[in-house]
Amino acid sequence: MWFINHQKIYFFLPEFLMMNKISTKLQEQLSTPLKIGSVIINSRVLQSPLSGVTDKVFRSLVRRYAPESMIYTEMVNATEIKHLPQLPRLMEIDPNEQPISIQLFDCRADFMAQAAEKAVKEGAKTIDINMGCPVNKITKKGGGSSLLRQPDIAEAIVKEVKKAVNVPVTVKTRLGWNDDEINIIEFAQKMQDAGASMITVHGRTREQGYTGTARWDIIAQVKQKLTIPVIANGDIFSVEDAIRCLEITKADGVMCSRGTLGYPFLVGEIDFYLKNGKKPILPTIKERLDCAKEHLIGLWEYKGQKGIFQARKHLAWYCKGFSGSAELRDQCSRINNVEEGLSLLNMESWS
Ligand SMILES: Cc1cc2nc3c(=O)[nH]c(=O)nc-3n(C[C@H](O)[C@H](O)[C@H](O)COP(=O)(O)O)c2cc1C
Repeated sequence: MWFINHQKIYFFLPEFLMMNKISTKLQEQLSTPLKIGSVIINSRVLQSPLSGVTDKVFRSLVRRYAPESMIYTEMVNATEIKHLPQLPRLMEIDPNEQPISIQLFDCRADFMAQAAEKAVKEGAKTIDINMGCPVNKITKKGGGSSLLRQPDIAEAIVKEVKKAVNVPVTVKTRLGWNDDEINIIEFAQKMQDAGASMITVHGRTREQGYTGTARWDIIAQVKQKLTIPVIANGDIFSVEDAIRCLEITKADGVMCSRGTLGYPFLVGEIDFYLKNGKKPILPTIKERLDCAKEHLIGLWEYKGQKGIFQARKHLAWYCKGFSGSAELRDQCSRINNVEEGLSLLNMESWS
């Protein structure tokens, strides 16, 4: 409701939003399962694909707090799958980690279809097609967000992949190439018509990369137009963000991304709220650092020395929001072995 008073305009938010609560009607809808084609998922909160992050180790931590959520692998190159003698390690799935989706990227429909068949054999419950990656190396070859400019190729990919596998095919994309080319509404409609069973929309353009704010208002327009589930993505860093995003977009669920870096608790926290209507108890600093230790050990066991180098960035992400965290972050980003990392994170003074 708007009130005009002495040239000032006051906008009164609905009470549930002011209190950071979700409206009862929306909560009722969102506490029901998410239907992705023939697949039923008992959670409306998804862990996004994050290249260099969502490996088996990270996923196992997210899964602990969000056992029913759909979790995505890192994006996998379909051309590589075609030419390499072995499947890339990125596609390795633990038999216990379900529901899981394997994300593929490329612009060749035939390669994508063949890769999708292999992904299903590995255990993918759905196949997700990356149509949002902004990285030059990928867009120059016609993959990722450049498909927003090639809707006919995008359509052919969805159709071919759908023909090749008996699991639902989903799409993850952005608003458009840039502010002058925001075409998500027509694009999403075309993907739905081609047979996509769900679409995730990151509320930024390719040109924005990860800058500026995600435009949830445009995701709301996509949701109004489509009949398949629409998942809102972008700028979800807390339960409160998820509530606001869901109220604005009326989306069928939210996908968490950078909010999970160094914080694999987020998907579970939002899921808990949507299922119970109560805010979860947040982890203490000690619990966060214990989780960082486990992450470090997991990466070491799974990837050896390469895992230690990868752990540097993860540990730095865990170290935020407490006194001394900047210094600890700096030290974590230089560790050379597990012991160094563990002794840094063990220090009593951090907790
Ligand atoms: C480190 C990093 C890696 C990413 N890797 C992928 C990827 O492999 N596939 C994909 O579809 N999106 C990828 N994204 C995009 C995210 O999934 C998400 O769409 C984006 O970060 C917007 O959400 P946010 O504002 O909540 O971070 C990546 C983003 C980051 C920061």
